[in-house]
Amino acid sequence: VREGNGVKGLVDSGLSMVPDRYIQPIQERIHKQNTISHKLQPIDLSKLDGPNHDQVVEDIAAAAETLGFFQVINHGVPVELLESLKDAAHRFFGRSPAEKAVYRNGVSPNPHVKYGTSFVPDKEKALEWKDYISMAYTSDTDALDYWPKDCKEAALEYLKTSSKMVRRLMEILMSKLGETVVDDSRIDALIGLKMVNMNFYPACPNPELTVGVGRHSDMGTLTVLLQDGIGGLYVKVEDLEDDGKNGEYWIEIPPVPGALVINVGDTLQILSNGRYKSAEHRVRTTRSESRVSIPIFTTPKASEIIGPLRGVVEKDGVARYREFVFQDYMNNFFGNAHQGKKSLDFAR
Ligand code: SIN
Ligand code: FE2
Repeated sequence: VREGNGVKGLVDSGLSMVPDRYIQPIQERIHKQNTISHKLQPIDLSKLDGPNHDQVVEDIAAAAETLGFFQVINHGVPVELLESLKDAAHRFFGRSPAEKAVYRNGVSPNPHVKYGTSFVPDKEKALEWKDYISMAYTSDTDALDYWPKDCKEAALEYLKTSSKMVRRLMEILMSKLGETVVDDSRIDALIGLKMVNMNFYPACPNPELTVGVGRHSDMGTLTVLLQDGIGGLYVKVEDLEDDGKNGEYWIEIPPVPGALVINVGDTLQILSNGRYKSAEHRVRTTRSESRVSIPIFTTPKASEIIGPLRGVVEKDGVARYREFVFQDYMNNFFGNAHQGKKSLDFAR
Protein backbone atom coordinates (compact mmCIF):
# COMPACT_ATOMS: atom_id res chain seq x y z
CA VAL A 1 0.00 0.00 0.00
CA ARG A 2 1.28 3.44 -0.87
CA GLU A 3 -0.04 4.83 2.42
CA GLY A 4 2.00 2.28 4.36
CA ASN A 5 4.12 4.95 6.01
CA GLY A 6 1.17 7.18 6.62
CA VAL A 7 0.71 10.77 5.59
CA LYS A 8 3.78 11.55 7.70
CA GLY A 9 5.81 9.19 5.48
CA LEU A 10 4.48 10.94 2.40
CA VAL A 11 5.38 14.38 3.73
CA ASP A 12 8.84 13.21 4.78
CA SER A 13 9.49 11.94 1.26
CA GLY A 14 9.15 15.59 0.19
CA LEU A 15 6.26 16.89 -1.86
CA SER A 16 5.02 20.29 -2.96
CA MET A 17 1.50 19.25 -3.88
CA VAL A 18 -0.79 16.65 -2.29
CA PRO A 19 -1.36 13.53 -4.40
CA ASP A 20 -4.75 13.38 -6.19
CA ARG A 21 -6.14 10.77 -3.82
CA TYR A 22 -6.15 13.37 -1.03
CA ILE A 23 -8.03 16.02 -2.98
CA GLN A 24 -11.55 16.39 -1.62
CA PRO A 25 -14.60 17.09 -3.77
CA ILE A 26 -15.49 20.79 -3.58
CA GLN A 27 -18.42 20.32 -1.19
CA GLU A 28 -16.16 18.60 1.35
CA ARG A 29 -13.44 21.26 1.42
CA ILE A 30 -13.42 23.58 4.39
CA HIS A 31 -14.24 27.18 3.57
CA LYS A 32 -13.67 29.76 6.26
CA GLN A 33 -16.57 31.90 5.05
CA ASN A 34 -18.98 29.25 6.28
CA THR A 35 -17.57 29.56 9.78
CA ILE A 36 -19.35 31.63 12.36
CA SER A 37 -17.71 32.85 15.49
CA HIS A 38 -19.39 31.67 18.60
CA LYS A 39 -18.18 32.20 22.09
CA LEU A 40 -18.03 28.92 23.91
CA GLN A 41 -17.49 29.63 27.58
CA PRO A 42 -15.75 26.56 29.09
CA ILE A 43 -17.72 24.87 31.86
CA ASP A 44 -15.87 24.82 35.19
CA LEU A 45 -16.50 21.35 36.62
CA SER A 46 -15.09 22.25 40.04
CA LYS A 47 -18.26 24.33 40.49
CA LEU A 48 -20.26 21.10 40.64
CA ASP A 49 -19.07 20.90 44.23
CA GLY A 50 -20.18 24.41 45.19
CA PRO A 51 -23.28 26.59 45.44
CA ASN A 52 -23.59 26.84 41.64
CA HIS A 53 -24.02 23.09 41.21
CA ASP A 54 -27.50 23.34 39.68
CA GLN A 55 -26.44 25.97 37.17
CA VAL A 56 -23.49 23.85 36.01
CA VAL A 57 -25.79 20.85 35.59
CA GLU A 58 -28.12 23.01 33.47
CA ASP A 59 -25.19 24.24 31.37
CA ILE A 60 -23.99 20.69 30.68
CA ALA A 61 -27.43 19.45 29.69
CA ALA A 62 -28.10 22.54 27.56
CA ALA A 63 -24.81 22.09 25.68
CA ALA A 64 -25.55 18.40 25.05
CA GLU A 65 -29.03 19.29 23.77
CA THR A 66 -27.97 22.06 21.41
CA LEU A 67 -24.49 21.90 19.91
CA GLY A 68 -23.56 18.49 21.32
CA PHE A 69 -20.07 19.89 22.05
CA PHE A 70 -18.68 21.77 25.04
CA GLN A 71 -15.37 22.41 26.76
CA VAL A 72 -14.55 21.75 30.39
CA ILE A 73 -11.91 23.06 32.79
CA ASN A 74 -10.99 21.78 36.26
CA HIS A 75 -11.88 18.35 34.92
CA GLY A 76 -9.56 16.32 37.15
CA VAL A 77 -6.94 15.56 34.49
CA PRO A 78 -3.70 17.29 35.58
CA VAL A 79 -2.70 20.08 33.20
CA GLU A 80 0.93 18.82 33.12
CA LEU A 81 -0.38 15.48 31.91
CA LEU A 82 -2.08 17.22 28.98
CA GLU A 83 1.30 18.62 27.99
CA SER A 84 3.04 15.24 28.23
CA LEU A 85 0.30 13.64 26.13
CA LYS A 86 0.89 16.07 23.27
CA ASP A 87 4.67 15.53 23.55
CA ALA A 88 4.13 11.77 23.55
CA ALA A 89 2.06 11.97 20.37
CA HIS A 90 4.76 13.98 18.60
CA ARG A 91 7.35 11.47 19.81
CA PHE A 92 5.45 8.45 18.54
CA PHE A 93 4.67 9.88 15.11
CA GLY A 94 8.24 11.13 14.83
CA ARG A 95 9.49 7.53 14.95
CA SER A 96 10.84 5.80 11.84
CA PRO A 97 8.37 4.06 9.48
CA ALA A 98 9.67 0.67 10.64
CA GLU A 99 9.06 1.41 14.31
CA LYS A 100 5.48 2.51 13.65
CA ALA A 101 4.76 -0.29 11.18
CA VAL A 102 4.95 -2.77 14.06
CA TYR A 103 1.51 -1.55 15.10
CA ARG A 104 -0.20 -1.83 11.72
CA ASN A 105 -3.43 -3.76 11.42
CA GLY A 106 -2.81 -7.50 11.29
CA VAL A 107 0.81 -7.03 12.41
CA SER A 108 0.28 -5.35 15.75
CA PRO A 109 1.36 -7.46 18.77
CA ASN A 110 -2.07 -6.84 20.28
CA PRO A 111 -5.30 -6.72 18.25
CA HIS A 112 -6.42 -3.75 20.35
CA VAL A 113 -3.54 -1.54 19.27
CA LYS A 114 -3.64 -0.22 15.74
CA TYR A 115 -1.61 2.30 13.77
CA GLY A 116 -3.18 3.51 10.56
CA THR A 117 -3.91 6.38 8.25
CA SER A 118 -7.13 8.10 7.11
CA PHE A 119 -10.28 6.32 8.41
CA VAL A 120 -11.40 3.48 6.12
CA PRO A 121 -9.04 3.98 3.11
CA ASP A 122 -10.66 1.17 1.06
CA LYS A 123 -14.03 2.89 1.18
CA GLU A 124 -12.95 6.51 0.78
CA LYS A 125 -13.23 8.51 -2.42
CA ALA A 126 -10.65 10.92 -1.05
CA LEU A 127 -8.31 10.09 1.82
CA GLU A 128 -8.10 12.06 5.05
CA TRP A 129 -4.82 13.82 5.85
CA LYS A 130 -4.30 12.01 9.14
CA ASP A 131 -2.32 9.23 10.80
CA TYR A 132 -3.41 7.70 14.08
CA ILE A 133 -2.64 5.14 16.73
CA SER A 134 -5.58 3.64 18.51
CA MET A 135 -5.26 1.89 21.87
CA ALA A 136 -8.29 0.06 23.27
CA TYR A 137 -8.18 -0.47 27.02
CA THR A 138 -8.46 -4.05 28.22
CA SER A 139 -6.37 -3.95 31.42
CA ASP A 140 -3.49 -2.02 32.94
CA THR A 141 -1.11 -4.90 32.28
CA ASP A 142 -2.14 -5.14 28.62
CA ALA A 143 -1.74 -1.40 28.23
CA LEU A 144 1.74 -1.41 29.73
CA ASP A 145 2.74 -4.53 27.78
CA TYR A 146 1.40 -3.56 24.36
CA TRP A 147 0.83 0.16 23.97
CA PRO A 148 3.79 2.00 22.36
CA LYS A 149 6.44 2.96 24.89
CA ASP A 150 6.38 6.59 23.76
CA CYS A 151 2.88 7.10 25.03
CA LYS A 152 1.66 4.21 27.20
CA GLU A 153 2.17 5.79 30.63
CA ALA A 154 0.65 9.13 29.69
CA ALA A 155 -2.24 7.55 27.79
CA LEU A 156 -3.11 5.22 30.66
CA GLU A 157 -2.95 8.05 33.20
CA TYR A 158 -5.17 10.19 30.92
CA LEU A 159 -7.72 7.42 30.71
CA LYS A 160 -7.74 6.89 34.46
CA THR A 161 -7.86 10.53 35.52
CA SER A 162 -10.63 11.34 33.05
CA SER A 163 -12.83 8.35 33.91
CA LYS A 164 -14.35 9.92 36.99
CA MET A 165 -15.33 13.00 35.01
CA VAL A 166 -16.92 10.94 32.22
CA ARG A 167 -18.87 8.95 34.78
CA ARG A 168 -20.07 12.14 36.45
CA LEU A 169 -21.11 13.74 33.16
CA MET A 170 -23.06 10.59 32.32
CA GLU A 171 -24.82 10.64 35.69
CA ILE A 172 -25.79 14.26 35.09
CA LEU A 173 -26.99 13.69 31.54
CA MET A 174 -28.93 10.57 32.51
CA SER A 175 -30.55 12.22 35.53
CA LYS A 176 -31.75 15.09 33.33
CA LEU A 177 -33.65 12.54 31.24
CA GLY A 178 -35.83 11.54 34.19
CA GLU A 179 -35.21 10.32 37.68
CA THR A 180 -35.51 6.57 37.35
CA VAL A 181 -34.38 5.97 33.84
CA VAL A 182 -30.89 4.56 34.37
CA ASP A 183 -29.29 2.80 37.32
CA ASP A 184 -25.60 2.78 38.20
CA SER A 185 -24.68 -0.55 36.66
CA ARG A 186 -26.31 0.45 33.37
CA ILE A 187 -24.28 3.65 33.32
CA ASP A 188 -21.14 1.55 33.79
CA ALA A 189 -22.15 -0.67 30.87
CA LEU A 190 -22.84 2.32 28.63
CA ILE A 191 -19.28 3.58 29.10
CA GLY A 192 -17.82 0.10 29.56
CA LEU A 193 -15.29 0.26 26.71
CA LYS A 194 -12.63 2.92 26.49
CA MET A 195 -10.16 3.66 23.75
CA VAL A 196 -7.42 6.29 23.58
CA ASN A 197 -6.44 7.53 20.12
CA MET A 198 -3.61 9.79 19.10
CA ASN A 199 -4.20 11.67 15.85
CA PHE A 200 -1.42 13.29 13.86
CA TYR A 201 -2.20 15.76 11.08
CA PRO A 202 1.06 16.61 9.30
CA ALA A 203 1.57 20.10 7.89
CA CYS A 204 -0.12 20.03 4.49
CA PRO A 205 0.98 21.85 1.30
CA ASN A 206 -2.67 22.29 0.16
CA PRO A 207 -4.91 22.84 3.17
CA GLU A 208 -7.66 24.29 0.97
CA LEU A 209 -8.00 21.01 -0.96
CA THR A 210 -7.82 18.48 1.87
CA VAL A 211 -9.43 17.58 5.18
CA GLY A 212 -7.77 16.24 8.33
CA VAL A 213 -10.97 14.39 9.13
CA GLY A 214 -14.09 14.49 7.00
CA ARG A 215 -17.57 15.23 8.30
CA HIS A 216 -18.75 12.59 10.76
CA SER A 217 -20.35 12.04 14.11
CA ASP A 218 -18.74 9.86 16.77
CA MET A 219 -20.14 6.39 17.30
CA GLY A 220 -19.92 6.03 21.05
CA THR A 221 -21.42 7.51 24.18
CA LEU A 222 -19.19 10.48 25.13
CA THR A 223 -15.88 11.55 23.60
CA VAL A 224 -13.22 13.43 25.56
CA LEU A 225 -10.79 15.30 23.32
CA LEU A 226 -7.50 17.00 23.97
CA GLN A 227 -6.47 19.27 21.11
CA ASP A 228 -3.28 21.27 20.83
CA GLY A 229 -3.11 25.03 20.22
CA ILE A 230 -3.36 24.97 16.43
CA GLY A 231 -7.13 24.80 16.05
CA GLY A 232 -9.20 23.59 13.12
CA LEU A 233 -11.94 21.49 14.73
CA TYR A 234 -15.33 22.53 13.34
CA VAL A 235 -18.80 21.54 14.51
CA LYS A 236 -21.84 21.87 12.29
CA VAL A 237 -24.61 24.06 13.64
CA GLU A 238 -27.98 22.44 13.16
CA ASP A 239 -31.30 24.25 13.18
CA LEU A 240 -29.68 27.61 12.60
CA GLU A 241 -32.55 30.07 12.44
CA ASP A 242 -30.91 32.39 9.98
CA ASP A 243 -30.14 29.65 7.47
CA GLY A 244 -28.02 31.58 4.98
CA LYS A 245 -27.53 31.06 1.28
CA ASN A 246 -24.47 28.91 1.74
CA GLY A 247 -26.60 26.27 3.39
CA GLU A 248 -24.39 25.09 6.19
CA TYR A 249 -22.57 26.75 9.07
CA TRP A 250 -19.77 25.50 11.23
CA ILE A 251 -18.30 26.86 14.41
CA GLU A 252 -14.72 26.32 15.42
CA ILE A 253 -14.01 24.84 18.83
CA PRO A 254 -11.20 27.19 19.85
CA PRO A 255 -8.19 25.73 21.63
CA VAL A 256 -8.32 26.69 25.32
CA PRO A 257 -5.16 25.91 27.32
CA GLY A 258 -5.87 23.30 29.98
CA ALA A 259 -9.38 22.55 28.71
CA LEU A 260 -10.82 19.32 27.34
CA VAL A 261 -13.51 19.11 24.69
CA ILE A 262 -16.49 16.84 25.36
CA ASN A 263 -18.90 15.68 22.70
CA VAL A 264 -22.00 13.55 22.50
CA GLY A 265 -21.78 10.44 20.30
CA ASP A 266 -24.44 8.57 18.32
CA THR A 267 -25.06 6.14 21.19
CA LEU A 268 -26.06 8.92 23.57
CA GLN A 269 -28.27 10.53 20.94
CA ILE A 270 -30.04 7.20 20.48
CA LEU A 271 -30.33 6.45 24.23
CA SER A 272 -31.85 9.89 24.82
CA ASN A 273 -34.30 9.39 21.94
CA GLY A 274 -32.77 12.36 20.13
CA ARG A 275 -32.67 14.78 23.05
CA TYR A 276 -28.86 14.94 23.16
CA LYS A 277 -27.16 15.75 19.85
CA SER A 278 -24.35 13.74 18.32
CA ALA A 279 -22.81 16.61 16.42
CA GLU A 280 -21.37 16.47 12.94
CA HIS A 281 -17.76 17.66 13.01
CA ARG A 282 -14.59 17.76 10.92
CA VAL A 283 -11.02 18.98 11.00
CA ARG A 284 -9.03 21.14 8.60
CA THR A 285 -5.35 20.81 7.82
CA THR A 286 -2.72 23.49 8.28
CA ARG A 287 0.06 24.56 5.95
CA SER A 288 2.92 25.16 8.32
CA GLU A 289 2.34 23.07 11.43
CA SER A 290 1.54 19.50 12.38
CA ARG A 291 -1.47 19.23 14.66
CA VAL A 292 -2.11 16.53 17.27
CA SER A 293 -5.34 15.62 19.01
CA ILE A 294 -5.94 12.90 21.58
CA PRO A 295 -9.49 11.62 22.01
CA ILE A 296 -10.81 9.08 24.48
CA PHE A 297 -13.83 7.28 23.08
CA THR A 298 -16.19 5.77 25.59
CA THR A 299 -18.62 3.25 24.16
CA PRO A 300 -20.94 0.54 25.43
CA LYS A 301 -19.68 -3.00 25.64
CA ALA A 302 -20.05 -4.85 22.34
CA SER A 303 -22.80 -7.13 23.64
CA GLU A 304 -24.89 -4.29 25.07
CA ILE A 305 -28.38 -3.80 23.63
CA ILE A 306 -28.77 -0.14 22.70
CA GLY A 307 -31.96 1.73 21.97
CA PRO A 308 -33.92 4.68 23.33
CA LEU A 309 -34.31 4.44 27.12
CA ARG A 310 -37.74 3.18 28.10
CA GLY A 311 -38.57 6.06 30.45
CA VAL A 312 -37.77 8.60 27.74
CA VAL A 313 -39.84 6.79 25.12
CA GLU A 314 -42.78 6.72 27.52
CA LYS A 315 -42.49 10.44 28.05
CA ASP A 316 -42.02 11.20 24.33
CA GLY A 317 -44.75 8.79 23.22
CA VAL A 318 -42.55 7.59 20.35
CA ALA A 319 -39.28 5.65 19.90
CA ARG A 320 -37.18 7.50 17.34
CA TYR A 321 -34.66 4.65 17.01
CA ARG A 322 -34.77 0.87 17.04
CA GLU A 323 -32.86 -1.49 19.32
CA PHE A 324 -29.67 -3.21 18.18
CA VAL A 325 -26.60 -4.98 19.56
CA PHE A 326 -23.78 -2.46 19.84
CA GLN A 327 -21.31 -4.76 18.02
CA ASP A 328 -23.48 -4.44 14.91
CA TYR A 329 -23.43 -0.65 15.17
CA MET A 330 -19.62 -0.75 15.36
CA ASN A 331 -19.33 -3.05 12.36
CA ASN A 332 -21.46 -0.70 10.31
CA PHE A 333 -19.54 2.37 11.51
CA PHE A 334 -16.10 0.96 10.71
CA GLY A 335 -17.33 -0.59 7.47
CA ASN A 336 -18.01 2.79 5.85
CA ALA A 337 -16.17 6.00 5.11
CA HIS A 338 -17.00 9.04 7.22
CA GLN A 339 -20.36 10.19 5.97
CA GLY A 340 -21.74 12.96 8.16
CA LYS A 341 -24.53 11.72 10.38
CA LYS A 342 -25.49 8.84 8.08
CA SER A 343 -24.10 6.41 10.66
CA LEU A 344 -27.29 7.01 12.65
CA ASP A 345 -29.42 5.57 9.85
CA PHE A 346 -28.38 2.15 11.11
CA ALA A 347 -30.59 2.77 14.16
CA ARG A 348 -33.67 3.75 12.17
C1 SIN B 1 -12.13 13.57 15.21
O1 SIN B 1 -13.22 14.01 15.54
O2 SIN B 1 -12.04 12.49 14.62
C2 SIN B 1 -10.86 14.31 15.50
C3 SIN B 1 -11.06 15.59 16.23
C4 SIN B 1 -9.83 16.43 16.28
O3 SIN B 1 -8.76 16.06 15.79
O4 SIN B 1 -9.91 17.56 16.83
FE1 FE2 C 1 -14.87 12.71 15.89
